[in-house]
Amino acid sequence: MQRIIILDFGSQTTQLIGRRVRELHTFCEILPYDKYPSDDSDVIGVILSGSPLSVYAPDAARPDLSGFLGRLPVLGICYGAQLLSYSLGGLVEPVGTREYGRAELSSIDPSCPLFSGIKAPSQVWMSHGDTITRLPEGYKVTASTESVRFAAFEASDAPVWGVQFHPEVMHTTEGARLLENFVVGICGSRREWTPDSFVESSVQELRTMLGNDKVVLGLSGGVDSSVAAVLLNRAIGSNLTCIFVNHGLLRKHEFEDVMEDYKGLGLNVIGVDASESFLSELAGEADPERKRKIIGRKFVEVFNAEAAKIEGARWLAQGTIYPDRIESSNITGKVIKSHHNVGGLPKEMKLKLCEPLKWLFKDEVRAVGLSLRMPRRMVFRHPFPGPGLAVRILGDITPEKVRILQDVDDIFMRGLRDNGLYEKVWQAGAILLPVRTVGVMGDERTYDRAVVLRAVTSSDAMTADWADLPVGFMRNISNEIINKVKGVNRVCYDISSKPPATIEWE
Ligand code: XMP
Repeated sequence: MQRIIILDFGSQTTQLIGRRVRELHTFCEILPYDKYPSDDSDVIGVILSGSPLSVYAPDAARPDLSGFLGRLPVLGICYGAQLLSYSLGGLVEPVGTREYGRAELSSIDPSCPLFSGIKAPSQVWMSHGDTITRLPEGYKVTASTESVRFAAFEASDAPVWGVQFHPEVMHTTEGARLLENFVVGICGSRREWTPDSFVESSVQELRTMLGNDKVVLGLSGGVDSSVAAVLLNRAIGSNLTCIFVNHGLLRKHEFEDVMEDYKGLGLNVIGVDASESFLSELAGEADPERKRKIIGRKFVEVFNAEAAKIEGARWLAQGTIYPDRIESSNITGKVIKSHHNVGGLPKEMKLKLCEPLKWLFKDEVRAVGLSLRMPRRMVFRHPFPGPGLAVRILGDITPEKVRILQDVDDIFMRGLRDNGLYEKVWQAGAILLPVRTVGVMGDERTYDRAVVLRAVTSSDAMTADWADLPVGFMRNISNEIINKVKGVNRVCYDISSKPPATIEWE
């Protein structure tokens, strides 16, 4: 399959470049800047990402580009453009003050294929502390802003382009068009990467890889493991057995509802209700990390006991997705979020790992779910943490607190659904605080619990913003919670973004 290689120089937006290319139905791979593949027979173009570094710094990342430069189309973005220019004899220098934010291309060369259909003035997003002050010989400027003369350039006799701004960011209004001009117009993508083609080729590959082997998969109710299960089920039918563990910290009625959904999809699912033993092991534990550890250990224990009953199982399937695996360039020491899939099966089980979604971004997993005709409520289910409500009950966990939080959460989630707001937010939930506050109900003084509602918008959970939910909706939800959930007399809304806060409170 045709692919674009994106070399990562450590920019915050490298993954976004990947997603934009995939939106053009073109497969792409994000690799550390110094790991260009030795076999590039199916590569149709290369994109060099941005970076927090200066290209002229002694320790800057300046890999040898000669393996593909001049042979394959190359697009340098921000640092990538500076690197191209610098390595070919141009000049890159610091600007007085870092240029960050919106800018406008005031002139564009209409003959440049990168700008086909894009006219000045055109808004772009800049984020750079260095700028190109002289282009290499044989290069010409193709777009400028008031303050950046070489906002874009091209080589006259080689397939090389550079842009100082970030086309992958939505504030660059014609960014998607520019990337399409590169990927489709210049590199000649056949746009063959679609959800249907992914399903078709994955089913074939899984059949070849798994033959008549038996596979075990841990379901969480979330979109990734559910889509992986349905895809595998299509490939190998009843040779797939799924295990869904109820640790007693799921949403209200979620275990029963999700089991129904899975059975409706024809999956072979074993539901294990281990709520009581999880809750009794958690009793009295208030430390967030220890709560997580207890749940993780217990989960593996319960899962293993069930998996061991499946005779002849040779594979463990997981819903790992691409962002979980992208190897960071280590330029900034940035840590890619560790993922939380089922792990830790005893070595003697000797299960091989099968990860059918390992090349997909989250939005692609959802598109594949729709292509597999899964119900919308499953495909667009909000992410939910593995340890469930345990990380939303601050302090120790009791069955009573779980009941209260499940009731509060249920009112909030139903409210979001009934008001058409559920799919407008990335994730929502409620948090039970370990404090009591004074209130008045009727003529009585109350001294009850305070809960917090949290709803965020995000595209990958790495950063998030609090969701601006309508005030009237919040008023109704707050009233309903206080009136209906015994033991709660105060409702707050979390208006912190990530960073510096996180999505979960623990
Ligand atoms: P934070 O709180 O780090 O969460 O902003 C980012 C995303 O990860 C989810 N999350 C977890 N998922 N096990 C999980 O499976 C965990 O321990 C865990 N902690 C956070 C969180 O819900 C959000 O989607």
